[in-house]
Amino acid sequence: MIYTMKKPTLLQTIAFLFLLSCVSCGAKDDLIEEPPYEEPNEQPDELPEEQPQTTTTFKDAPYLIGCAVVPSLLQNNRMYAEVVQEEMSSITPENALKMGALSKGHGSYFWDDADYLVEYAADHQMRVHGHTLIWHTDIPGWVTRYSGTREEWIALMQEYIHEVVGRYQGRIASWDVVNEAFNDDGTYRKTIWYENIGEEYIRLAFEFAHEADPAAILFYNDYGMEYSAAKREAICTLVKDLRAEGVPVHGIGLQMHIDMYRSASDLKASIQAAADCGVWVHVSEMDVACNPEKKTDFTFTDKIAQQQKASYQAMSEALLSIPADQCFGITFWGVCDVHSWLTSAPDAPLPFDSNFEKKPAYDGLTGTFGK
Ligand code: XIL
Repeated sequence: MIYTMKKPTLLQTIAFLFLLSCVSCGAKDDLIEEPPYEEPNEQPDELPEEQPQTTTTFKDAPYLIGCAVVPSLLQNNRMYAEVVQEEMSSITPENALKMGALSKGHGSYFWDDADYLVEYAADHQMRVHGHTLIWHTDIPGWVTRYSGTREEWIALMQEYIHEVVGRYQGRIASWDVVNEAFNDDGTYRKTIWYENIGEEYIRLAFEFAHEADPAAILFYNDYGMEYSAAKREAICTLVKDLRAEGVPVHGIGLQMHIDMYRSASDLKASIQAAADCGVWVHVSEMDVACNPEKKTDFTFTDKIAQQQKASYQAMSEALLSIPADQCFGITFWGVCDVHSWLTSAPDAPLPFDSNFEKKPAYDGLTGTFGK
C-alpha cells in the first residue's frame, strides 16, 4: 500500500508548533541546576544593621601593644588569657615585680609569680617589660625599718637591683628602673631612697640595672607629664642631664592614667617632650577613666564610649607622630574593665568591657594603624 501524506492544515501546523515548544521548554528546564541556596520569598521588614568588619587586631599595630597582667587571672580565667594571647605583644607584670612582692627579707625572695609571667611571655612570643625596681611605695617592712648609713642603703639598693635584673637577664627586655621620683610641682619626692641616699639614688639605680643586664632598655617612669608642665620639665631635664653624663637611661615611660576629658594636645605635647629627649617613649600604664567625678550612679553610655574612643585614638596618633624608632609601645593598665585597678568608683577605663568584648576604644586605636 502506498500511503500519501496529506498536507496539514494551518490549524494543525500551529498546534504542532505549540506542542513542540512545550516539550523543548521542559527539556531545557531539566538542564538548569537547582540554586545552591534558598531564594528568599520576601524581603525582611528590617535589614540588619551593618557591623564594621574589624579584622585588624592590636597585634597589627605599628608599635607593640601590651597590658599589665596578673598571674592568677592568666591561670584561671580562660577568656582573660585568650584576649592576652590574641591581642597583646607585650606584658607588664602589674604587681609581681614590685619590691613588696619580691623581697621577703634581706636576701630572701619570692619569685614564683614573676617566673611564671616571664615563662608565659616566652611561650607566647611576647616582650616582658619589668615594672618596677625603685619606687616610693610597695616597699617591704624590713626595708622601711632598715637603719643603715648612706653607704649601706646604696649597698642594699645595689644588691636588690642586681639580684632581680640579673635573674631575668636576657628575658626581661626593659625595666622601669625608677618610678615616680617627682612631685607634680617638679620637686623631688621625698622617698625613702631620696631621704637615705639623696637625689643621686636615681643615677645609681640606672647604673646598677645596667651592670646586671647591659642589654636591657632602662626607663624612667612617671605620671602627670600630660597635665603638669613643671613635672614634664623636671623629668626631661633629669633624663637629658643623666644621658649627658653617660648614665644608661634609654627611655621615658608616661603612665597616662588619664580621663576622657584630657585634650589631644596635652597628650601630644607630653609625648613629644619625651621624644625630644632622644629616648624611647612608652605609654606605660594607659587607661581612660570615664567617671573622674566618681559618681555612684555612673552609666557607660554610647556618648561616653565615643568620647573614650577619641582619647584612645588621640593617644595612638600622638605616639605615631614621633619617630618610629622611638615608639616603645602602649601598655594598658589591665585587660578588661572588671579587672582595672580603678575601683574607687564605677568606671570603664579599658578597651575591653567586663565580658571581654571590644569597646569603641578598641577601634579608636586600630583605626590609626594604617594612617
Ligand atoms: C597599682 C596596681 O594596679 C594595683 O593592683 C596595686 O594595688 C597598686 O599599684 N602607678 C604605677 C603602678 O606605677 O604600679 C600602679 O599599679 C598604678 C599607678
